Amino acid sequence: MATKYLPKYVKRILVDSNKVKAGITKAANWINKKYAHCKKPPILLAILKGAIPFYGELVMQIKKDIVFDFIVLSSFRGQLKATGKPRIVTDIMTDIQGRDVIVVEDVIDSARTLSVLCKYLKARKPKSLATIALVDKVDMRVVKFKPDYVCFTLKGNPFLVGYGLDIKEIARNLPYIAEFNKKYINKI
Ligand code: IMP
Ligand code: MG
Repeated sequence: MATKYLPKYVKRILVDSNKVKAGITKAANWINKKYAHCKKPPILLAILKGAIPFYGELVMQIKKDIVFDFIVLSSFRGQLKATGKPRIVTDIMTDIQGRDVIVVEDVIDSARTLSVLCKYLKARKPKSLATIALVDKVDMRVVKFKPDYVCFTLKGNPFLVGYGLDIKEIARNLPYIAEFNKKYINKI
């Protein structure tokens, strides 16, 4: 078997690869059930870049027609702390009016990103709007927000890397969710 890529800045693995995959399968089943009877294909909207690995695995397990769309938001600028209000860097391409929209996010921290985005999307009058996240850091909320589906809920404030989550734009390709060792912040 191939050896695992375990960079030195990984403090510990919190959710291993098999568990992540199992969690995503459950999320896909949730979507399959919830949207089984909707007439027009739901729009799955990934927040780039962090949601890419989650989204890629998720969509392959959805058993109905869906439409892909993407939005690029920036709030983190690759550092350990968010910089406040998220900004739209690249907008969605689809007209979402009257459509079922499912927002796919990597991690919820303060929830500023999702609450700002949901307000923005609601103004475009979708038929329904749901949010689904790979990870929810529940203790970190700054604004009140309840996602519709979360694969993994984590306590405390670990800075996460892997499965799309980055530190200074690296570590997104680690096939597990891990805690970043902050002592390496100036060494990467
Ligand atoms: P929020 O707006 O504070 O909820 O933060 C959401 C965004 O910040 C996510 O989309 C991530 O891009 C980023 N983020 C939050 N926590 C982490 C983390 O632990 N590791 C990497 N990125 C994070
Ligand atoms: Mg993100």
